[in-house]
Amino acid sequence: MNRLQYDQVRQNDRVIRPMVSGDLPAVMDIEFQGYSHPWNETVFRDCFRENYRLWAYDCGGVLGGYAIVAYLYDEAHLLNLCVAPAVRREGAGRQLLRHLLAHAAHEGMEQGILEVRASNQAAIDLYQSEGFRVIGQRPGYYPAPEGREDAIVMTFDLSSA
Ligand SMILES: CC(C)(COP(=O)(O)OP(=O)(O)OC[C@H]1O[C@@H](n2cnc3c(N)ncnc32)[C@H](O)[C@@H]1OP(=O)(O)O)[C@@H](O)C(=O)NCCC(=O)NCCS
Repeated sequence: MNRLQYDQVRQNDRVIRPMVSGDLPAVMDIEFQGYSHPWNETVFRDCFRENYRLWAYDCGGVLGGYAIVAYLYDEAHLLNLCVAPAVRREGAGRQLLRHLLAHAAHEGMEQGILEVRASNQAAIDLYQSEGFRVIGQRPGYYPAPEGREDAIVMTFDLSSA
């Protein structure tokens, strides 16, 4: 098999599926590599609720990333999107984002909303390139190594998606 064929097989091995509780050890591993202030396992366990959607990016049986979304009225609130360092810059974050937005639209949500650290330019670039726009700022929303950090609030119109 040549490199191109191998890459195609690898891509085909990648699927987005609902997260299950058995994913949590791998989720915690990625979470701790992804954030300065990671969620703990109890927070993830608490997300297995009827109005939450938990998505796993599965690379041939190995977890490559995940997204957590809460549905509230007609809003899909993206609470967490994280990709394992080993598979970053390969499109996983974008695929997860498109998947969760498509599902939210399909399930009748009118708007996607999220907060992102003001310093997290990689994530801001991703969201803006997918059509999110900045609607405001929450001062001191996040804990930071020295004090607090502002959140940028972004929304996405799902009614036209
Ligand atoms: C943000 C994150 C989810 C992106 O995941 P990813 O799979 O690497 O992203 P993709 O490969 O789909 O990249 C999509 C776009 O995001 C932007 N991007 C991603 N990583 C970037 C980086 N290191 N520097 C600059 N832009 C970046 C680019 O616009 C990129 O598009 P391009 O590759 O065409 O230039 C990932 O870096 C991550 O898990 N970070 C830690 C957790 C986090 O910050 N989550 C977001 C919380 S709001």
